[in-house]
Amino acid sequence: MSQNNEDLFKNIISHAKEYGFIFQSSEIYDGLSAVYDYGQNGAELKKNIRDYWWKAMVQMNENIVGIDAAIFMHPTTWKASGHVDAFNDPLIDNKDSKKRYRADVLIEDHVAKIETKIQKEVEKAKARFENFDEAMFRSTNPRVVENQKKIDDINARFKDALEKNDLAEVRQIIIDLEIVCPVSGSRNWTDVRQFNLMFATQVGSVSEESNTIYLRPETAQGIFVNFLNVQKTGRMKIPFGIAQTGKAFRNEIVARQFIFRMREFEQMEMQYFIKPGTEMDWYNRWKEVRMKWHRSLGFPENKHRFHDHLKLAHYANAACDIEFEFPFGFKELEGIHSRTDFDLDNHEKFSGKKLQYFDPEDNESFVPYVVETSIGLDRMFLAVLSQAYAEEKLEDGSDRVVLRIPPVLAPIKCAVLPLVKKDGLPEKAREIMDVLKYDHLCMYEEKDSIGKRYRRQDAIGTPFAITVDHKTLEDQMVTIRYRDTMLQERIPVDNVSKILDEKVDMKKLLKQLS
Ligand code: GAP
Repeated sequence: MSQNNEDLFKNIISHAKEYGFIFQSSEIYDGLSAVYDYGQNGAELKKNIRDYWWKAMVQMNENIVGIDAAIFMHPTTWKASGHVDAFNDPLIDNKDSKKRYRADVLIEDHVAKIETKIQKEVEKAKARFENFDEAMFRSTNPRVVENQKKIDDINARFKDALEKNDLAEVRQIIIDLEIVCPVSGSRNWTDVRQFNLMFATQVGSVSEESNTIYLRPETAQGIFVNFLNVQKTGRMKIPFGIAQTGKAFRNEIVARQFIFRMREFEQMEMQYFIKPGTEMDWYNRWKEVRMKWHRSLGFPENKHRFHDHLKLAHYANAACDIEFEFPFGFKELEGIHSRTDFDLDNHEKFSGKKLQYFDPEDNESFVPYVVETSIGLDRMFLAVLSQAYAEEKLEDGSDRVVLRIPPVLAPIKCAVLPLVKKDGLPEKAREIMDVLKYDHLCMYEEKDSIGKRYRRQDAIGTPFAITVDHKTLEDQMVTIRYRDTMLQERIPVDNVSKILDEKVDMKKLLKQLS
């Protein structure tokens, strides 16, 4: 991460705390690593993102329904899903710094550095030549070709080692690439070991192994085990989807980058049940649909990209990420996976219960295939926050920090501000609040100068502020101030509600999706 981006990211983190978005969990006890609490503004932003996802997936699709399964599940669920045996990360320790790393992340970071070198060459050439042909440049420039070959060789060797579960070879790759510990600077590495990411706990009062249950590491299994319940009671016909949002838990080895990688986080997942053989069509369709959802929020086009998985999860036959450019670079925001019939098939085997769909048209029963879309709500929160955060120098020389959160997602939609705390202005402002509060979360504020109050609202991303002044009492007009442009205009009090309804209407975004 460049120094500028590192500073920017630090500022975003402290802003999130200072303005009631995110606090370190149990901070008074010095916090708990990689666990965070959402404050008064964070909880609202998170809820609005969740609502937008739910409406886009469930409300807008007649063949997708939502459920809310329990976090605790029968332990055999995780045997069947493969998580007990295969939900591991390869970890390695540096003997000098005693720091622990994910071996795959060390290698991926090394590859990313080479990719950055290539990108720099490309950018330099782009600036020099007018009709620049990037594909031609990449295939002919000797330095680029050489670096690309290095990347391909590392990826191929690493993929092979992972497929064979050859941990000694993974360590050897780290040694051969001369990767050093960022803390000690040494290459004094331990062996690579597998580490299961599930949290285990005991159910009931007796602590025996048979009482061990897990905190779910993904919400998806709650959907799979309910597949037939929902299909039958909802009389669902294939293709159909089941969606759910909820907490998931992973004992991440390297928990870093604020809320990007947490040990307790929230997922928004949808499993789409389809006929075997149609999975690649649906996989491609859902890739498009989900990218459209992200872009509908007004992010610049170049902020998202697809990244195909090199190492497929134990359940997938095709998988990609939608990556977002966070201040620390492009990273996974959402995963789209073609999960075949892996999960339902295994749940059939382990439970002894049929999990098949009877197709009345073809008069046959089969275990459906599944395409999954899975997005981390906290990561989406971080994407919105980091895109929205701006430090600005204004014409009068003053500074402002503003969160340009899309109005539909903003925690507070409108601030209602009496210019002064007397002369009947607070009463008039309260009257306006009493009208607006039934439809929108608004904030009444009368303390401090109007300038300071505007700045406070900018800092939490409130898109509109309504100011009541002495003239309001005579002409029933108020000033509306727009967060992004800081422009102000007089409008009739009676129009406030209508304007607000229009500007924060989720319907407009949802219409763009269809
Ligand atoms: N059911 C499939 C599944 O769980 P995943 O790629 O492991 O797939 C899906 O996770 C999404 O969940 C990721 O794209 C990411 O947004 C989010 N996620 C995963 N681990 C996370 C963590 N430790 N902290 C925050 N979000 C996480």
